[in-house]
Amino acid sequence: MKKFLDSTLLILFFAALASNFTPLNLHEAFGFAFATLIVAHNLLNRHFYKNFARGNLNPRRIINNFHILLFAVAIFILIVSGAALDNYFSAPNANWLSIHLAAAIFSTILLLIHIILHAKRYVKEKIFYATTILAFILAFGAIFGLPYVDRWFHTVKVNRDAITGEKLDLNGKILIVYFSRVGNTNFPAEVDAVSGASIMLDDKKIIGNAQMIAEITQNITGGDIFALQTEKIYPADYSQTVNIAKNEFSTNELPALVKLPNVVDYDKIILIYPLWWSDLPKPVENFLQNSDLSVKKLYPIVTHGGGGLGNSIETLKNYTLAEISEPLDVYSSDILSSRKIIYDWLKE
Ligand SMILES: Cc1cc2nc3c(=O)[nH]c(=O)nc-3n(C[C@H](O)[C@H](O)[C@H](O)COP(=O)(O)O)c2cc1C
Repeated sequence: MKKFLDSTLLILFFAALASNFTPLNLHEAFGFAFATLIVAHNLLNRHFYKNFARGNLNPRRIINNFHILLFAVAIFILIVSGAALDNYFSAPNANWLSIHLAAAIFSTILLLIHIILHAKRYVKEKIFYATTILAFILAFGAIFGLPYVDRWFHTVKVNRDAITGEKLDLNGKILIVYFSRVGNTNFPAEVDAVSGASIMLDDKKIIGNAQMIAEITQNITGGDIFALQTEKIYPADYSQTVNIAKNEFSTNELPALVKLPNVVDYDKIILIYPLWWSDLPKPVENFLQNSDLSVKKLYPIVTHGGGGLGNSIETLKNYTLAEISEPLDVYSSDILSSRKIIYDWLKE
């Protein structure tokens, strides 16, 4: 029983760690199952807590007790922050995400120690050490290695055919407003080697993900297009931009925009933006706060790296009186093949 429970816990932990490759719902399901079973694991091993300070406290036992306490705290924070990130319980924010990531890293390290100290009893030593090391290399590779390689070395050639195709005749005048890292960032010439995620190259041209979606949407609808541009320029380094955006959320800074689109003449606004810290980027919030969209219909399209719509639609609703349609989210890796999805969504 214990062996079965512990093996299931291990599988669930690693499955949840691979969140870069699983949809958010599945990650949450793994996390929820893990949280439930970890309670059972603690109940089955409750003698540990009963005997915590009893008997001979030799150095090995002290190390054992200490790492289990740390591990329990890390897992507790992991679960609480995971629940706080779930839309169902509260509005997720950047700080909870940082706490969740930090707790995941500490839990992974402590799990390694926990397995080394305890799991020998389950399998022969050589197999045990080899599989433990392999599992951790795979886990860290999945968390940090592959996204890193993908982000820094994988350039995507855009085929113009991905943009052009069947047209839709929608009623009313349409304005496509988009915000993208590209257009607001000073990228050096050799951008493919030094840029962050979300860049696609069409020959020598850089296209942001939201920009690509905006171009597809324009090709389908024939609407006018407007790129939101901030007065400040974001750094080419991806992680620096991520930190700057985090700061904008914590200080509630609304980055100034070079110009606002003239929305008066339009009936429908298609708003396209990347998910930033599970939320609406602050420059887009600025656009909404300073534009009267009260009699317009707003169609949001969110591009993201796995976080789906995040909390951005709730935020959107706080800053506009526009009637908001069912939103569409497009995973960054799916953009090149997203024309049909966007077409069908607009048709609906
Ligand atoms: C500052 C920043 C924060 C981000 N935060 C998230 C996030 O919380 N969840 C997510 O899935 N993707 C996140 N991403 C990834 C982008 O949403 C994704 O790469 C998007 O397709 C980028 O579009 P763009 O090229 O038009 O800027 C973030 C990217 C940046 C630059």
